[in-house]
This record gives sequence, C-alpha cells and structure tokens, in this order.
Amino acid sequence: MPRVFVSCPLPGDAVERLRGACDVVVGEPGLGVRSRAFDEHAASFDAVLALLTDAIDEALLRRAPRVRLVANMAVGVDNVDVVACRARGVTVTNTPDVLTEATADLTFALLLAAARRVVEGDALVRRGAFPGWTPTTLLGAPVFGASLGVVGLGRIGRAVARRARGFGMHVFYTQRNPLDAALERALGASFRPIDELFRACDFVTLHCPLTAETRHLVSRERLATMKPGSVLVNTSRGACVDEAALADALERAGAGVVPASGGPGAAGRDVFEREPVGGSIEAGTTRTVVVEPRLLALPNVVLTPHVGSADRRTREAMAGLAADNVLAFARGAPLVTPV
Ligand code: DGY
Repeated sequence: MPRVFVSCPLPGDAVERLRGACDVVVGEPGLGVRSRAFDEHAASFDAVLALLTDAIDEALLRRAPRVRLVANMAVGVDNVDVVACRARGVTVTNTPDVLTEATADLTFALLLAAARRVVEGDALVRRGAFPGWTPTTLLGAPVFGASLGVVGLGRIGRAVARRARGFGMHVFYTQRNPLDAALERALGASFRPIDELFRACDFVTLHCPLTAETRHLVSRERLATMKPGSVLVNTSRGACVDEAALADALERAGAGVVPASGGPGAAGRDVFEREPVGGSIEAGTTRTVVVEPRLLALPNVVLTPHVGSADRRTREAMAGLAADNVLAFARGAPLVTPV
C-alpha cells in the first residue's frame, strides 16, 4: 500500500476512500506539510495530497524523496515547484473543472457587491445609520449594460462571461492567443489587447494563473489607465495585482480624487498578495495582518478570504478529484487530471 500524506481533514468521503487503498497520514488543519506528522514520516511518503497553502518546493521534495505524486486540491499550482517535481520524476495533478461554476459565482458576487456597495449598505443598516430612502444614498456603478473585460477566457473566465450576458454586459477578453472567431461568437466575447481592455472596460475581472508573466500584471501604471470609477475584481491569485498600488488607487477614489489618467473606483478581492498560512478557524488562530492594512480600512473594496470555490458541493468534488488522482496512482492507472 502506498503511504500518502493528506494535508488536513477534507470535506466529504475523500479520506475514507483513500484509506481503502493507501496507508494515510492526515496533517493538522492550517499546518498541512508543516505538521509534525509530515516531519516525522516525510521519508516514507509516496504521495502528498496538498492544499494551495502547502509549499511543495525543492526543499520539501528533498525531505520526502520517495514522493512520486503531488495531488494538489486546487486548479492553480503556483504553490508547487512543477519544474523541481518534473526533475525528480514527481507527477503533479490539480482539480480543474469542478470549481469553475462556484468560482464564477463568487466573482459575480464580488462584482455586484463592489459595484452596488452591498457591504457598505449592510454596515450602515447594522450601525443604525439607515437614513430612510433618499435619492442619493450609496450610489454605485451601473452593472446592466456595462462593459466587462475578462483577463483569461479559460474555463472560469468563460463561466463569468456567461453570467455577464445575463446582465446585458458587453464582454471583452484578453489573453496571449485570441480564440477563433466562431468560438468568440459562441461565447459572445470580443478580443482586445490587454492595455486597450483596461482602458475601455467598466469592469475588469482576472482569471489567469499566477506565473512570472502575470505577477503584478495589474501594475501601478495599468491601474492608472483604468476608466475612472471602474471596478476591478480578482478571484485568481493575489499577486496578479500590485496590492499597494491598488490601495493607493482606491484611497484616492474613496477621497473623491479622480486622477487625470483615471483609475478604479472600487474593487472586489478574494485573493491577496501574501495570504496567511498557518491559521485555522477550528483552532481559533486566524491571521489578517498580512493583507495590505490600508485595504482593510477602505469602504470601496469588498474582501473575502479566498473562498471562490467554497460551496459544499464544490469543495467535496475538489477533495474527491484529488483523492481520485491518488487512487489512480495507487492502482498504477493513468492519472485523472495531470498538470
Ligand atoms: C484554486 O483551485 O486554485 C482555487 O484558488 C481554490 O479555490
């Protein structure tokens, strides 16, 4: 039986199914590969079922030299040094498809919440400051009929584009290679070079993986080219945006300053440049200090704690797919979703 380290207890029956075919060691919530159980048995593991908070790098692979499979319970694999894995003959799998719709749902939730100031409104009602209906309370950005720029029209980007059409939005997209015209027509999306898309769209949403090329893709300079009062949504990876520059732009917008060159007026973020690791809601150890502190103080940004895929069905499906990859590995069968 292969010996498998599972980062932490998982939703659904994934761990139970693994126990039928593998010798399973489960790490502690919030610690994953930093758990004592990993440390103590590192040399004996054949596979690791990892979370995106587990850094799978050369140092870890050296400590666990038998590992031949890293089954990441995420579609993104930026936590895994895929090159180091390949060099050591370690296969990496991820969990595509199963989280597409959930992530698109949260993208739209953030888009709507940021545009229509839902969180500000909620806070106002709770603190007893609801003035009654007035013609000017919490005026937001119109969504219906607005233009939406999708950076990366892959699975999630397309699911967002489908939702946008229901809101009468005009959908544009950018990515390295434009799609063919028939597919563009089917998706109802038109290609724009990236700088043009940032300049022209009322909403911009990011759906690209984090790579050396996309790190700070939304730079200070690019933010300054966005339409005044536009909305930036990010449910991909935090480091695709220069967080300090975004805080500057949103601070200016919140203070009513519209720089001549423009800039977003609001944002929705599910992901952050430096996300906390090692915190656990179950253990009551949470961490927020790594998020740019100025963002925490701004009313014109809606912040969620990397929960794009966090509906019950989706998380069970992600855990199930990661487990299916480990089970295939245990049987010597082809892996389900190799990267
Ligand atoms: C992923 O799968 O990469 C997501 O960020 C997890 O929600």
